[in-house]
Amino acid sequence: MGGLLFTGGTIVTADGSFEADVLIEDEKIVAVGTDIAANGTETVDASGKLIMPGFIDAHTHMAMPFGGTVTSDDWATGTAAAAAGGTTMIIDFALQEEGGTLAGAVETWTEKAKDKALIDYGFHVAITDLRDDVKTELPSLAAQGVASVKIFMAYKGTPLYTEDDDLFETLQLSKEAGVLVLVHAENGDVIAKLQEQALVNGNTAPRFHALTRPPEVEAEATGRAIRLAEVAGAPILVVHVSCAPALEEIHRAHERGQTVYAETCPQYFAFSYDDLAREGFEGAKYVCSPPLRDESNRPALWNGLKVGDLQIFGSDHCSFNYRGQKEMGADDFTLIPNGLPGAEERAMALWTLGVREGRISENQFVAALSTNQARIYGAYPRKGALVPRRGRGHRVVGPGALDHGDGEQPPWQRRLHPVRGDDVRRWSRGGVRAGYLVYKDGEILGEHGSGRFVERNFTATRGLEAKV
Ligand code: URP
Ligand code: ZN
Ligand code: ZN
Repeated sequence: MGGLLFTGGTIVTADGSFEADVLIEDEKIVAVGTDIAANGTETVDASGKLIMPGFIDAHTHMAMPFGGTVTSDDWATGTAAAAAGGTTMIIDFALQEEGGTLAGAVETWTEKAKDKALIDYGFHVAITDLRDDVKTELPSLAAQGVASVKIFMAYKGTPLYTEDDDLFETLQLSKEAGVLVLVHAENGDVIAKLQEQALVNGNTAPRFHALTRPPEVEAEATGRAIRLAEVAGAPILVVHVSCAPALEEIHRAHERGQTVYAETCPQYFAFSYDDLAREGFEGAKYVCSPPLRDESNRPALWNGLKVGDLQIFGSDHCSFNYRGQKEMGADDFTLIPNGLPGAEERAMALWTLGVREGRISENQFVAALSTNQARIYGAYPRKGALVPRRGRGHRVVGPGALDHGDGEQPPWQRRLHPVRGDDVRRWSRGGVRAGYLVYKDGEILGEHGSGRFVERNFTATRGLEAKV
């Protein structure tokens, strides 16, 4: 099997940066060092470029039924977008169907992924119906390499919505089973009431999506979920944290010494409530949950990433077309499917707004996009590390490619909404998965179906409470 030798690049890891060559053979990194002899191996000149562990995006929704429709990216287009953004592994949410089992969810998602995935993947199972047989089944997830589940405290009136008693029992069972519980923390009851009141008053426009899901509603559910995890003695991971009050709850838990992981997403840095309040129905493109917030929340979110209260930057890639999908809510904002894409733009957004602006270091960038995700989700060190014989995916990027030249808004901002255009200025110069280039200079080179399922467990990180 052919190899690849990257020469003259700068290796950037979560812990530091240094000059070195990288040799890949038989799908594995076999050497990281200086002056590695090529011995006939294909050589890639990486001078002036950064070499990082492949990015992991543990928050995607490909071909997922949601909000009365199905997300518009399937596993072919969605993993291509992720690869173009330097991502070599996604962890997608497999939904338990009404009356279905957890194994059924994994099976359904395996079918969706297997002939289409261009990069490696894993699944979290979203538990929607914690029946007695499902409680018995839950421990078997870990043995299948599915080491995480998600509970939705929001979306009341849909099968996703879960009450506190089931959340609590899921935490108890998962802890015993070596499975990490992820929560979508928003108070579903209060949102349903506020939505009802808004509609009675004739408030149907997209901006009411945010006004009926205020930050306090996210903060309350975040605090509640964390306290339930504390009672259960289980670690917990709060996904898509959007605002300062929710982050305060996480920070307080960290001060108490509780194991709470937390993720934030590019849309909360790139967009704001003002986008939801755009003229006419334009704001529908920006409907996601938790909703876009006032910009005053951003300094706290940046600080959270910097000091480690937020360890993960995921995309929450959940794309819908404007025509025919977002339009479903033209007369009623509660019918607008919730979600934005972002798998391709995620790293670019964090680099442009975070590293280039001096808000986080390049090493914190790698931690939030790769290493922390591998550790917290149980894929380390097969993923998230650039160490000989261990990492299976890495990428090469040139930060010069991040320039957006003409002083206009960065091009990725034009794409980070549900109308997908081709005007993206690609920034990642190349992505390698299992020793092969899957993406180079704007072109997808990998084969759909070549991505592999990555079993996750917590043995390498010595249990659910990963040190990040
Ligand atoms: O609006 C969002 N975030 N859609 C995806 C589903 C979810 O809650 O993560
Ligand atoms: Zn969610
Ligand atoms: Zn999501």
